[in-house]
Amino acid sequence: MKGYPAGFILILRATLTALFISGLILAPGALEMRLEWAVPWSLEGGTRVWGAALHAASYFIMLFLLGALWTVHLRAGWVRQENVLSGGLLLGAFGLLALSGLGLYYLGDVSLGNLALAAHLLVGLSLPGLLVAHILGAKRAQAHLNRPGRRIEAE
Ligand code: HEM
Ligand code: HEM
Repeated sequence: MKGYPAGFILILRATLTALFISGLILAPGALEMRLEWAVPWSLEGGTRVWGAALHAASYFIMLFLLGALWTVHLRAGWVRQENVLSGGLLLGAFGLLALSGLGLYYLGDVSLGNLALAAHLLVGLSLPGLLVAHILGAKRAQAHLNRPGRRIEAE
């Protein structure tokens, strides 16, 4: 990733993986407790606390990384008008996750809390698809840049 230290992309990928896996393992318990769904499996009390701690640590780090992406990555993509649609969808997804996450914490009203959970899970589950689309778009942008003559044009 241009303009970032060598390990940045690795940290980004590790954080996204931890965020998604922790969200997935918390999901059955949340559906059982909030929506009273009968689920075949959910985390036990102690393990659930560790799952929630991993989720909290990874979303804190992810919000920090989003700030770092904003200052260089998003601006560079915007100026070059590359990968904007899938990047914008990703940004919107993180915005909705942060808002619905706050809703999970603070909405006292049960039906609003359930709505926040449904939105949080639906948007959360769409993240890998959005990321794959974004990475494919990045490869297309790179191939376009590497076309003969394009480099000189870009310089
Ligand atoms: C930057 C992205 C995300 C943010 C800011 C975020 C934020 C939050 C917050 C604030 C909570 C409530 C309290 C807590 O357990 O700490 C939460 C819970 C939860 N999140 Fe996320 N989350 C994100 C991504 C995801 C993803 C990708 C998934 C699913 C794959 C997911 C699934 C869940 C689940 C199932 C819960 C538990 C709800 C409950 O126990 O009632 N989250 N998240
Ligand atoms: C908001 C969350 C975003 C995340 C997590 C994200 C993440 C990524 C990742 C992982 C790659 C692939 C890098 C690689 O494999 O080397 C990438 C590439 C790219 N993204 Fe984003 N992106 C985001 C938003 C955006 C936005 C809003 C734009 C455009 C305005 C954008 C434009 C690009 C471009 C042009 C590339 C290819 C060139 C490069 O790697 O810098 N991204 N992005």
